[in-house]
Amino acid sequence: MSLLRVENLVKSFGGVHAIQDLSFEIPEGVVYSVIGPNGAGKTTLFNLISGVYTPSSGEILLAGENTRGLAPHQLARRGMSRTFQNLQICMNMSAVENVMVGSHLRLDSSFFKAMLRLPSITRGDRACREQAEELMEFAGVGHYIGSEADAMPYGALKRLEIARALASEPKILFLDEPAAGLNGTETAEIDQLIQKVAQSGVTVVLVEHDMKLVMNISQHLLVLDYGKKLAEGSPDQIRCNPDVIAAYLGAA
Ligand SMILES: Nc1ncnc2c1ncn2[C@@H]1O[C@H](COP(=O)(O)OP(=O)(O)OP(=O)(O)O)[C@@H](O)[C@H]1O
Ligand SMILES: [Mg+2]
Repeated sequence: MSLLRVENLVKSFGGVHAIQDLSFEIPEGVVYSVIGPNGAGKTTLFNLISGVYTPSSGEILLAGENTRGLAPHQLARRGMSRTFQNLQICMNMSAVENVMVGSHLRLDSSFFKAMLRLPSITRGDRACREQAEELMEFAGVGHYIGSEADAMPYGALKRLEIARALASEPKILFLDEPAAGLNGTETAEIDQLIQKVAQSGVTVVLVEHDMKLVMNISQHLLVLDYGKKLAEGSPDQIRCNPDVIAAYLGAA
């Protein structure tokens, strides 16, 4: 059974058909990339899968379960996590607190328990902080433990966002342009981090315009154009596909 299965997915915004009759499957344990020109529907696809948008029609199944009607936090509890194309970090919080937000998606901390500061919550918070610090080390931003988020450079914030996404302990992680705006060194660091995440057993789904990065780390690619599947296959198959070259790679 595939970890994620998308069947005949459609999303329209008024007259704009952002996703058109799209079907594909993601097996467990791969790095799977979604590529395509600007406006092809990549972020819309992530927003549909992560419960931010409701499909116009079609189905999304996570580990065999239909996700229709599930909110993002309910999907997080089922093992789905993501980052955003436009960095979403709270600049008035510390770096560690930003990562802790991710684990609260998975923890059972009801409002009243939190208000009463019951011992179980305090213990939970401590464990949560320790996990956040470990994840910051894992993501290569350990030296910013103790820093405010607004003291971190952009490249480090991109990795902090990945640490936060990992704090909910996902089975499948969606990364929307993790290398956007990064220089060559920072992109190489993101490349290594994604490989480490994949080696830890998390299935990674990547949207990225940096073709070198994509071709280097993906086992499978899906190419979107105008919301439709243009091609899919291994990096070698995609590189040689004439439709892809004409629509995307040739124009890059
Ligand atoms: N909330 C929305 N309301 C209306 N139209 C939208 C909305 N979100 C996306 N679109 C439209 O859907 C299409 C696909 O956009 P999307 O952001 O998914 O593309 P993308 O492949 O992520 O592009 P990029 O590479 O530039 O990030 C575009 O025509 C866009 O204008
Ligand atoms: Mg996008």
